[in-house]
Amino acid sequence: MDVVDLAEYADDFTANPYPVYAELRAAGPAHRVRVPATGAEVWLVVGYEEARAALADPRLCKDWRRHTGEDSTELPVGANMLETDPPQHTRLRKLVAREFTPRRVEALRPRVQEVTDALVDAMLTAPSRTADLVDALAFPLPMTVIAELIGVPELDRAAFRVLSNEAVAPLTQDGGEKAVRELGGYLAGLIEDKRAAGPGDDLLSALIRTRDEDGDRLSRDELVGMAFLLLVAGHETTVNLISNGIRDLLTHPEQLAALRADFDGLLDGAVEEVLRHEGPVENATYRIAREDIRIGEALIPAGAPVLVALASAGRDPERHAEPDRFDIRRAPGSHLAFGHGIHFCLGAPLARMEGGIAIRTLLERAPRLQLDVDNKELEWLPGMLIRGVRHLPVRW
Ligand code: HEM
Repeated sequence: MDVVDLAEYADDFTANPYPVYAELRAAGPAHRVRVPATGAEVWLVVGYEEARAALADPRLCKDWRRHTGEDSTELPVGANMLETDPPQHTRLRKLVAREFTPRRVEALRPRVQEVTDALVDAMLTAPSRTADLVDALAFPLPMTVIAELIGVPELDRAAFRVLSNEAVAPLTQDGGEKAVRELGGYLAGLIEDKRAAGPGDDLLSALIRTRDEDGDRLSRDELVGMAFLLLVAGHETTVNLISNGIRDLLTHPEQLAALRADFDGLLDGAVEEVLRHEGPVENATYRIAREDIRIGEALIPAGAPVLVALASAGRDPERHAEPDRFDIRRAPGSHLAFGHGIHFCLGAPLARMEGGIAIRTLLERAPRLQLDVDNKELEWLPGMLIRGVRHLPVRW
């Protein structure tokens, strides 16, 4: 099968990958492609049905170190549930799953609203009546919530933000690895401090103490891996749900007007539509084929890396009628923005709640909110993992 060189689409592909995904989908559900940033060849699954099946396929595994022979002790942050397969995955996920149930998350609602109110208040005092929505709200809200939940309120957010951005959307491969290594060292230090300070009632303290029914306990690397995953997954994604959501709404005035007229009836649907139409995770994390796998015409050989294009699945006309149309009243069509199968996003209830509260509060408090930037000037995050802009200038 011919290799499709995504680098040929370069800047356009990052700013607007949807036409490329549409072209690929029309030619078949899976393709061999060359990734722009690294030049690496991977298999890309672009059809909705095939993407959903791939995410739940045990032949596509996550523990790439085991399958590529790389040393798993090298990067302790890799000892996390998103980079493991059963039975380790089952064990790690079970230890924290109860903290993220819809009921537990609902209990955080007043605090999420309080943090949002404070951020929106501060933003709206700017005499210029302009702000960068990412700096003012979309980044600090999820970062504050996840840092408090985990129990690292002293987290150096500015430094963490730089490293975390570099880890998920690296400008260079070396930069990404260096950032991951530094984050691991920093988190290991925070965990040591917490252990020394004695037990608190936060999630990380509970994990340090934890023994499940079988007397299981997290190793030091697993603790670092868990903190890393929750902190990074807990904000790199939600920041873009908020900013992509506000951007989608401000560029579709009739949808915005409908939402403003009926927040109670339409807010949840609007959040789901943003997830489908401009979901924060463009491609799921890498999987490795454990054996030869056929998807459509493509025969993916054992050992090959596979990306599942969630953004493409969300625009598949076989699944969603007129998929490029942003319509907050669309009947929920089970998008794949939170993944599917055993790695389905643990934080989905929290992300939905934060996204809904942020969007509603901001629109209610700023009735004349508008974009303060031309579409062409937006700086898109590099790489194929995260879909979002680095800054979103707004005025009111
Ligand atoms: C809009 C916001 C979010 C989106 C779009 C999102 C998306 C995703 C996706 C697509 C996956 C699966 C990746 C794969 O299979 O390769 C995932 C996994 C995960 N997410 Fe989220 N996420 C969001 C917010 C959060 C939050 C707030 C948390 C915080 C706790 C979180 C924690 C996790 C964890 C722990 C996993 C790994 C689950 C596992 O391996 O079993 N996510 N997320």
